[in-house]
Amino acid sequence: LNDLFLKACRGEPVVRTPVWLMRQAGRYLPEYRALRERHDFLTLTRKPELAAEVTLQPIRRFGFDAAILFADILTPLVGHGIEVEFAPGPVVAKPFRTREDVERLRGFSAEKAVPETLETIRILKRELDVPLIGFVGAPFTLACYLVDGKGTKTFPETRALLYRDPGLGRELLDALADMAADYALAQVEAGADAIQVFDSWGDLHPDSHRPLPGLFDRIRAAGVPGISYAPGRPRETGADVASIDWRTPFAAARELSMNVQGNLDPMALFAPPELLTERIRAVLAEAGDGPGHVFNLGHGLHKDTPVESVELLVRLVAEETGR
Ligand code: CP3
Repeated sequence: LNDLFLKACRGEPVVRTPVWLMRQAGRYLPEYRALRERHDFLTLTRKPELAAEVTLQPIRRFGFDAAILFADILTPLVGHGIEVEFAPGPVVAKPFRTREDVERLRGFSAEKAVPETLETIRILKRELDVPLIGFVGAPFTLACYLVDGKGTKTFPETRALLYRDPGLGRELLDALADMAADYALAQVEAGADAIQVFDSWGDLHPDSHRPLPGLFDRIRAAGVPGISYAPGRPRETGADVASIDWRTPFAAARELSMNVQGNLDPMALFAPPELLTERIRAVLAEAGDGPGHVFNLGHGLHKDTPVESVELLVRLVAEETGR
């Protein structure tokens, strides 16, 4: 097993900086688009052989140092019976408003809701020679989709609910935190080597961070590193590794002695090779020579990203950091 990624997550010395990219499986890859012509997104996430194949596609093509489970942050909600369409972003059929809605989240069991996803992990563990990253949506970011019903820039309905009825807001976040913990631990039990918690919208409300330290404690107790993605607010999540967005310097997390992942602007992959090379070197320089850096983007790969830029990135990170 190539353990560069896990070593970097623990802050141990490595022979070169490991690299993987958020949303490394997906529409920028011709082989993913070919599968998508025959199956819709939900089907790809629900059929273990197909989901495993999608996870493996970028590993074969680029030789990344970690693989990420192919699913969505809303996958456990779909499995629990919440109606969601992907167009391509999630659209919730009946947005949450009331205590009765929140009650629908009770009794979540990953074994019951997402057996296909856990089976995908077991298949991948037989196929992979790099670590497998499992993931969950953070409670607040999941609440954003459940309450606003779809992606918006600022999720006003969700924020309004948390201010209008703080008690209900807390119940919603707590129920989602229970779900996230159960789902994360089931992924580890099935074989996931690390868990990333995506709180993409967490900077929109001060309560978003509250459930995170407890969640990361449980992930750590299960014996794997926890990675936060909390744009704008990497501090105080309690994670082992802070995945830093492209607007935020590593220093914010380094001051807390956290290991870091990131943080090239995904749009830099649209630059000509010379400029892209310069930007990658700048990220490596900011990370410094010490241990505890996983090279990644500061957000997910854009669907129109040129494949050649990803090739350049993987090659350059290896060349520049090999020691
Ligand atoms: O990183 C990976 O390769 C693993 C798979 C993964 C997907 N979504 C697949 C996906 C992961 C880790 C996610 C996380 C996710 N999903 C987040 C957190 C990270 C972030 O981007 O901030 C969020 C907010 C979502 C919700 C979501 N799902 C959105 C906003 C979209 C639309 C994305 C887009 O680029 O248009 C989705 C759909 C989705 N999830 C796709 C993929 C590959 C596109 C589906 C398709 O093929 O049509």
